Amino acid sequence: MSGTSLDGIDGVLADFSRPARPVVLAQAQRPFSVDLRSDLLDLTHPGVNELERAARLSQTLSTLYAEVVHELVQQAGPGGFPVAAVGCHGQTVRHRPEQGFSLQLVNGALLAELTGMAVITDFRSGDIAAGGQGAPLVPAFHDALFRHASIPRLILNLGGIANLTLLLPGQVTRGHDTGPANLLMDGWIGRCLGQAFDRGGDWAAQGRCHPALLESLLAHPFFQRSAPKSTGREDFSLEWLESRGAWVSSLPPEDVQATLLELTARSVAEAVQTACRGYEGAELYLCGGGALNVQLTKRLRTLMPEVRVGRTDDLGVPAQQVEALAFAWLAWARVQGKAGNLPAVTGARHGVVLGALYSP
Ligand SMILES: Nc1ncnc2c1ncn2[C@@H]1O[C@H](COP(=O)(O)OP(=O)(O)OP(=O)(O)O)[C@@H](O)[C@H]1O
Ligand SMILES: [Mg+2]
Repeated sequence: MSGTSLDGIDGVLADFSRPARPVVLAQAQRPFSVDLRSDLLDLTHPGVNELERAARLSQTLSTLYAEVVHELVQQAGPGGFPVAAVGCHGQTVRHRPEQGFSLQLVNGALLAELTGMAVITDFRSGDIAAGGQGAPLVPAFHDALFRHASIPRLILNLGGIANLTLLLPGQVTRGHDTGPANLLMDGWIGRCLGQAFDRGGDWAAQGRCHPALLESLLAHPFFQRSAPKSTGREDFSLEWLESRGAWVSSLPPEDVQATLLELTARSVAEAVQTACRGYEGAELYLCGGGALNVQLTKRLRTLMPEVRVGRTDDLGVPAQQVEALAFAWLAWARVQGKAGNLPAVTGARHGVVLGALYSP
């Protein structure tokens, strides 16, 4: 898995003999170099010679994905395991479901050649072809692992974008993107301090939320839209932040960071509280890199005193492994011929067996 944060690759090797209780046998991470990150970021908006740059980056990425696969297999030890398939999400550079596409960079044939394994990629197109958003795709996996018969549970993935899964007793599983999680905070600290991300939310904690800026950010039409809905860098970018007014750049930069953290917290809290209305004893479990943002967790707890806020580690899956494991699970579903999307989540007309298969 490599997500919208553009921070790098997260990999797991998992045993799905018991699908609802997968066992992680190995895990590996590979950060992107500053240059690769910047080349990928350049491709998320229109520019010259895009086709050639996209094809070349797909090759570069596939070499890195293959290195992660090799590291995972090595960790599993001699004798190894018969690997059924590599599930590889690829790197999203455009997400435009309303126009009928979502584009992830990966060269599946090259990855199959480099690993000698079956490779499954392009998980989103099938759902979009059936009229869905192509996102979020992880709720089916959350449902399989984390649902409780009587306790209302919500799973919040804090990647570049935040996506929420609602596991409410007696109700079909739902979910949607709630807006930005880390991508604006990452972008702003990168611009101002040259850092990849705000560790622990420490820099945001030095600033003060600016109410007028926050209100102007919360006025983005995405927050008012009803589900099914998904979003990406097309909606939330530094250019959009700066278009809020020239005064953004005249504020102390740490105040802008504090406001961006509050934007994530408020938009998430609003979505959680709307979903949980009428339920008591709801539990919210955080995953993704943003689960390590101490300040963000603190704000979520303050904004939602009625909800127990924990991490998926409490449910047996470390926060950093959930997304990678979800795409391994989706690859498993593809091999089993099972639908991977949930129409109630994505808005697709029907369930779809997701992913394109490249044989080695
Ligand atoms: N210690 C930390 N403190 C604060 N934020 C962190 C920390 N560690 C990681 N992060 C944030 O998490 C981000 C990476 O999270 P993750 O890999 O889950 O997101 P992603 O790549 O966008 O994945 P996806 O799109 O699948 O959700 C980083 O860019 C950073 O913003
Ligand atoms: Mg990541």
